[in-house]
Amino acid sequence: MIIMEKSLWIEDSGDTHYKRLEAGEDTDVCIVGGGIVGAVTAYLLTRAGVKTIILEKDKVCLGVTANSTAKLTSQHGLFYKYLEEEYGLEVAKKYLYSNEEGINLAEDIIKGEKIECGFEKKNSYVFATNEIELDKVKQEVETLNRIGYEAKYLTDVNIPIENVLGAVEFKNQAQFNARKYCIEVFNRVEKYGGRIYENTKVTNIVLENGRYTVRTEVGFDVIANKVVIATHYPIKSFPGMYFSKMYQDKSYAIAVDTHEEDDKMIDGMFIQSCNPIISFRTTIYNGKKLLVVAGSDHKTGRPIGKIEDSYLNLENYIKSYYPKAEVKFRWSTEDCISLDKIPYIGKFSNLLPNMYVATGFKKWGMSTAHVAGKIIFDAIMKNKNDYAEIYRATRLHPMKNFEEFGNMLKESIDSLLINKIKPAQDEFDNIPLDGGGIVELQGQKVGIYKGSNGEVFAVKPYCCHLGCLVSWNNLEKTWDCPCHGSRYDYMGNIITEPTVRNLERFNILKDEEDVLDL
Ligand SMILES: Cc1cc2nc3c(=O)[nH]c(=O)nc-3n(C[C@H](O)[C@H](O)[C@H](O)COP(=O)(O)OP(=O)(O)OC[C@H]3O[C@@H](n4cnc5c(N)ncnc54)[C@H](O)[C@@H]3O)c2cc1C
Ligand code: FES
Repeated sequence: MIIMEKSLWIEDSGDTHYKRLEAGEDTDVCIVGGGIVGAVTAYLLTRAGVKTIILEKDKVCLGVTANSTAKLTSQHGLFYKYLEEEYGLEVAKKYLYSNEEGINLAEDIIKGEKIECGFEKKNSYVFATNEIELDKVKQEVETLNRIGYEAKYLTDVNIPIENVLGAVEFKNQAQFNARKYCIEVFNRVEKYGGRIYENTKVTNIVLENGRYTVRTEVGFDVIANKVVIATHYPIKSFPGMYFSKMYQDKSYAIAVDTHEEDDKMIDGMFIQSCNPIISFRTTIYNGKKLLVVAGSDHKTGRPIGKIEDSYLNLENYIKSYYPKAEVKFRWSTEDCISLDKIPYIGKFSNLLPNMYVATGFKKWGMSTAHVAGKIIFDAIMKNKNDYAEIYRATRLHPMKNFEEFGNMLKESIDSLLINKIKPAQDEFDNIPLDGGGIVELQGQKVGIYKGSNGEVFAVKPYCCHLGCLVSWNNLEKTWDCPCHGSRYDYMGNIITEPTVRNLERFNILKDEEDVLDL
């Protein structure tokens, strides 16, 4: 049985071939990051005739967007009762209707531009498997009904999971292949005059004489009147300080062939209301219906159980309902969670005019990327936007969530100070082939990965974002930062932001007696 170690969406979509930046450029808007936020924002701007450049560090649409479960829904778990309690019914209502409009915008783009991306209308469900959660489901429906939204409370839920007591149903939501969608949207952006550069990593953005200089690793700058930071986690740390009001959480996904008839498969998009949060949907791949299952969530760099079991737990779970299930694809990714659980969209900081950001989607960025695109578009065009205020990125009230703020502070203190002083947990000789860990060598901490043939790769295990001690992820053979979620491959090369630099590397070692040499 061969399992593809990549997302089904990537395998089932084409490639892109945009050039890297090869000369300095001057533009009205520069968008940094080619995921779904970058795509939608660029689409709206270029269609309105705004001169726009997009800079992407890898290829477009290979980041979180390409590794999600791609449910396009305003049902973001059980969320509306929380919003009503914390911020009032009006905020809950605006959040809901902005996301419904986000779905409509996606549908308009798909239909208007004749985009083939597996877009299908589906109902969406959050289900409960115990009485406490069922009560929360009922309260969620009550809030939604107070808003005036026709959410249904169901006790007969068509999903082959034991103990499902009830669910809240949102009708007319949608699912798609978000990578196919983004690739096609960028194609239209180019058609409308936008310029897209791939393999062009942005390393800094500075305000000089009232305009922005966007510096890139390829040695050329883009000068822009306005900048949109659409890098998932903002790559600019100051003055926005998003690292102090957001953390990253990782999830795993598998796509399985259940070997059941199509009519025995679920019809709709489902997610469990409480831990373990498991999410389901189906998709067609090579003419066959596959079940996409996601879960095993944990904070990046801080797995709850054995990280190696993250996929296995999902597989075992699904096999208890579909015993013949066969895993075809598996992948993982992480998303940013803001302290008040509402995304940060709009002005990046009060100190930097004409710089915008969209982040903190808490694993519901498909509809909210469209909300973000529209809010940023309206800000740039000086249009009024009724939803902008609830997402305002410079708001202070996220700090109300003292519990999560305390957790983040503790994590930072541990990773920035305590774990750096504590003796290393691993010993060089005990690290197996194809394994890694942090050891003490010549009086300093060194991150070691031993390849399958005995080659040793050594890195300085301090994250290049703000200096936290990274931890070894033995499932994906990566160095993960528990502070804000930067990730590096075993050689220290960046996989995900906020960092914009690779880990420092030591010369490759033969054994621990070898002299470390930077
Ligand atoms: C497991 C999982 C499942 C999910 N499922 C769903 C779902 O079903 N429905 C839903 O609504 N949401 C879902 N989400 C959330 C959603 O996928 C994200 O919120 C959304 O894709 C984020 O889009 P983005 O454009 O901000 O980020 P990305 O898609 O990551 O795009 C950011 C881009 O910026 C680029 N970049 C980074 N740094 C630089 C730099 N220095 N220079 C240039 N470019 C740079 C990256 O390479 C990347 O291409 C899920 C999230 C997870 C973790
Ligand atoms: S991601 Fe911020 S210190 Fe590592």
